[in-house]
Amino acid sequence: MNIRPRRNRKSHALRTMVQEAKLGVENLIYPLFIEDGKKIKNEIKSLPNNFRWSLDMILPELESCINIGLDKFVLFPVVQESLKDKTATYSYSDDNFYLDAISKIKQEFPHISLMSDVAMDPYSSDGHDGLVENGIILNDETLPILGKMTIAQAQAGIDIIGPSDMMDGRVGFLREALDNNNFKDVSIMAYTAKYASAFYGPFRDALASAPKSGNKKTYQMNPANRREALLEAQLDLEEGADIMMVKPALCYLDIIHALKENFDIPITAYNVSGECAMIYAASEKGWLDYEDAMSEMLLSIRRAGADGILTYFAKDFAKL
Ligand code: PBG
Repeated sequence: MNIRPRRNRKSHALRTMVQEAKLGVENLIYPLFIEDGKKIKNEIKSLPNNFRWSLDMILPELESCINIGLDKFVLFPVVQESLKDKTATYSYSDDNFYLDAISKIKQEFPHISLMSDVAMDPYSSDGHDGLVENGIILNDETLPILGKMTIAQAQAGIDIIGPSDMMDGRVGFLREALDNNNFKDVSIMAYTAKYASAFYGPFRDALASAPKSGNKKTYQMNPANRREALLEAQLDLEEGADIMMVKPALCYLDIIHALKENFDIPITAYNVSGECAMIYAASEKGWLDYEDAMSEMLLSIRRAGADGILTYFAKDFAKL
């Protein structure tokens, strides 16, 4: 044998030199859940070590994350059932606690990159991402609602909006709405290839946002499809997305890779709640080593081609 690949693995010094994919805190985006009230820090049952925070409690939490190098966060609102309605009016109302939290957080930490979720489900009495009529999720009628939500978030000071709803044409619609309202610098990170996945369970527990009837298969993508992700990406690029996301990450590494190979804008991947929950649960049982397993999972998402990763592991990885 004159070629022995093991020779390049013989020491830590060599292994690190020839390491291809690298992962640092700069690649991580930390999702946090916020709810109205004071002194709230409620652990999410199906997502241990992740909490629903009130604003007064999330500010020191953000500070401790910033101190260990995290500077990108995505914020999800937990909305009381009594404030939800068919048209998600609370999402852009003047007394919305989430919008208030966005502006307070940006005042406190102007240098961080703060991202939002744009979809109707946290505010919808139907628990769907779009407007529901007779059991059908209406596409074009949903867009103006997402538009109002987007402008309200931009007014509050959001840096990047994250349309996660999968309605057709929404990236272009929201880009135009932002530009027309003088928010030319607000970016769009599109949930480009978002699949109808079983791995969103713990997130829907956290928000109590599961669909009241039916499922999300008429708008989220079929897990069997790869070429369709390229079509979605082509559309989002043409409509003005700044960053394209694949979601979930782990079962969709080939999709991350395909978008990275075919499109020249940054790619992010959402390492969703169910993927993290699997590792939390297995390591709680002593079946997996938590730090090794989560680091390997995150590294594989980088290797597939993601520039940024939204992950509940962000803080623990940064500590490491
Ligand atoms: C909803 C939304 C979901 C997630 C992010 N935004 C759930 C869904 O589509 O039902 C899931 C994230 C996760 O599981 O961590 N617009």
